Amino acid sequence: MGSKMKLALAVLCFASLYVSVAQADGGNFWDSFYCNFGDWMVRYPGDEQTSGKVVELGLDNSTGSGFRSKYPYLYGSLGMKMKLAAGNSAGVVTSFYLRSRYVNWCELDFEFLGNWTHEPVLLQTNVFSEGIGNREQRITLWFDPSEEYHYYGIVWNEKLIKFLIDDTVIRVFYNSVDLGIPYLDYQPMHVYSSLWEADDWATCGGKRKVDWAAAPFTASYKDFVTDACVVHPDYPNLDTCYDMLYTADYGNYTNTHLSEKEINDLKTVQYNYLTYDYCTDVTRYNVTPPECARNWPQYYSGQ
Ligand SMILES: *[C@@H]1O[C@H](CO)[C@@H](O)[C@H](O)[C@H]1NC(C)=O
Ligand SMILES: *[C@@H]1O[C@H](CO)[C@@H](O)[C@H](O)[C@H]1NC(C)=O
Ligand SMILES: *[C@@H]1O[C@H](CO)[C@@H](O)[C@H](O)[C@H]1NC(C)=O
Repeated sequence: MGSKMKLALAVLCFASLYVSVAQADGGNFWDSFYCNFGDWMVRYPGDEQTSGKVVELGLDNSTGSGFRSKYPYLYGSLGMKMKLAAGNSAGVVTSFYLRSRYVNWCELDFEFLGNWTHEPVLLQTNVFSEGIGNREQRITLWFDPSEEYHYYGIVWNEKLIKFLIDDTVIRVFYNSVDLGIPYLDYQPMHVYSSLWEADDWATCGGKRKVDWAAAPFTASYKDFVTDACVVHPDYPNLDTCYDMLYTADYGNYTNTHLSEKEINDLKTVQYNYLTYDYCTDVTRYNVTPPECARNWPQYYSGQ
């Protein structure tokens, strides 16, 4: 048996163990995800029966931790409720993102940049298509993300990508193939979450360092939503996912267009919460990237 084969078998056994546990529980987190690093920092609060419904990721001076979906998805509504580390979390980044495994990859990011106690945590979002990102936007949040769970999610279809906090759209990225920008429409992406140290850049440009005396830092996750087209990595059938756009909720009119409320949400975000936008960073781009006008609703309100 080749070593690749052995590895495949080991992975299979591991996966089936989790699947059977999950079925006994009537479906839980491990149906869809597995821990991909720092497993000794991952905790499952609650008793044996409910464990798997809530997952806590930890970070200490030895490692961060994270999880990844078992399968990649092409289009869908994907998200989860998260509660971030409380207190002084400067230098700590909590992320939720989708990413493909191609060389010229696609990626959709939520990155929460920690801060000193009572100082604002910033949410940075980014969009990579075919390996090119550089589309950062940062907002302050209108609530304390360490106090309660909030839903963070993505609606992704052939027309657009919406970034959501609870019911509020905070960012939209339209399909701009007509403007020469490759769209995220053929690379299935896995869902990831992680907690890690990034004190060389995350807080006040790297000036505020992690206070290790406050470790371990803990972020908590629950209520995973994966209404999405699952792509089997060994038998990728993308046509199924293209067809599903006609029947699934995430491909319907509500999800392929912005409502008046969502347009207003985006205006509120832009006027009140945006602290950085690559679209207006003239030192970086002396010509505004072409998708920018389309993605901000006072210039464009959908087709
Ligand atoms: C990490 O933290 C532990 C507990 O606070 C401490 O004993 C240890 O020396 C630290 N290790 C490093 C490499 O800083
Ligand atoms: C942290 O707090 C400082 C002071 O309020 C603020 O300038 C900064 O934008 C905050 N967030 C980050 C991630 O640096
Ligand atoms: C589309 O799907 C959403 C759920 O994402 C649902 O609430 C809505 O009623 C649907 N809209 C239409 C027009 O079918």
